[in-house]
Amino acid sequence: MLRKAVYFFGFSIFGLSFWMCKSLPDLNEYVSAPIPADNPMDSAKIALGKALFFDTRLSKDNTINCASCHKPDLAFTDGQKKSLGINGQKTERNSPTLLNAAFLPSVMFDAHLKTLELQVLVPLQEPSEMGHNMKQLTPLLRQDSVYQKAAQDIYGRDFDAWVLTRSIAAFERSLISMSSPYDHFIKGDSSALSKKEQAGYKLFSEKLYCTECHAPPYFTNHESRNNGLYLDYGNDKGRFRINQDSSEIGHFKVPSLRNIEYTAPYMHDGSFASIEEVIDHYARGGAGHRLQDPIIQPFTLSENERDALISFLYALTDLSFVERL
Ligand code: HEC
Ligand code: HEC
Repeated sequence: MLRKAVYFFGFSIFGLSFWMCKSLPDLNEYVSAPIPADNPMDSAKIALGKALFFDTRLSKDNTINCASCHKPDLAFTDGQKKSLGINGQKTERNSPTLLNAAFLPSVMFDAHLKTLELQVLVPLQEPSEMGHNMKQLTPLLRQDSVYQKAAQDIYGRDFDAWVLTRSIAAFERSLISMSSPYDHFIKGDSSALSKKEQAGYKLFSEKLYCTECHAPPYFTNHESRNNGLYLDYGNDKGRFRINQDSSEIGHFKVPSLRNIEYTAPYMHDGSFASIEEVIDHYARGGAGHRLQDPIIQPFTLSENERDALISFLYALTDLSFVERL
């Protein structure tokens, strides 16, 4: 355990100085993303946020970091139905992608947290996730001379919760993934999508009703809806648990479909292992919960159409950021 901690310690120091001068994301790529006035983007801040994102000291027993559940090569998800926190504890939900989080007006499946800065505190302090607390963590990280110096240089203050939450949020906002074959097609490169993918796009946006909720360009309308996953939502009633408003039972944030090829299993609880299962769900017309969105109705697709729809969904993949990391 100690060796592991020391390794990551060294890694983060090396990584920080390395990242600060090399392979930074192109600032022009996220100029259009909304950046809060009190947390402007800058390269040194993103580099610090990145080092923290991969630092296992953020968990109580030094075993996991943010990337344990948000792995870059899985589009910042973890491939598990429900993520595992410290001591092998099962969390309540499936890990969502962090790509394009910069565009989210609210985060979490309950769509209730307004900023990425605030969100950082949740996994950090949640006993079943990283199980740490800010009071103990910040003095510990302040002893890291690289972090302390970066805090002084960037924010003009000692390393603290303000520095930590802002830096991680800035790193997350740099994770833009908007350069898929679909985007090239929309920008005028008609060869970017195959005939089959174009047919799938037509099905997705015209024959079916998917764009009502998964609207381009983000492939989400940023609302929370009941997509009829269950007849009875059991213990996890989604957004209902925030306001105890019974009209919000079964409401979950509409997730983006970008990079869906890499983010299985699907839904807030990872209950669908594959895209095929997701399409079966919608084709059945949902489970028929009383608050299910009326847009969702049964449909039939031929084998070819189903194939085309899936190939279109896979044309929403842009993992180029992995090379830039
Ligand atoms: C133990 C696994 C785990 C760890 C560690 C973890 N997360 Fe998550 N993360 C999740 C799960 C599960 C959710 C969904 C929670 C929910 O919506 O109720 C989530 C949600 C999020 C979201 C909201 C995304 C959205 O689309 O709404 C952000 C942002 C995020 N995590 C960032 C982080 C950061 C930053 C860290 C490190 C400080 C971190 N996570 C550590 C599992 C984890
Ligand atoms: C009424 C709004 C609505 C419509 C219409 C809709 N969806 Fe969804 N979709 C959702 C919601 C809400 C979720 C998340 C539910 C959850 O987490 O339990 C979701 C989840 C998904 C997911 C899983 C994403 C992930 O990362 O877990 C896929 C894939 C998907 N929808 C595809 C489609 C397709 C294809 C169509 C058209 C046939 C469609 N959706 C129509 C609201 C909608």
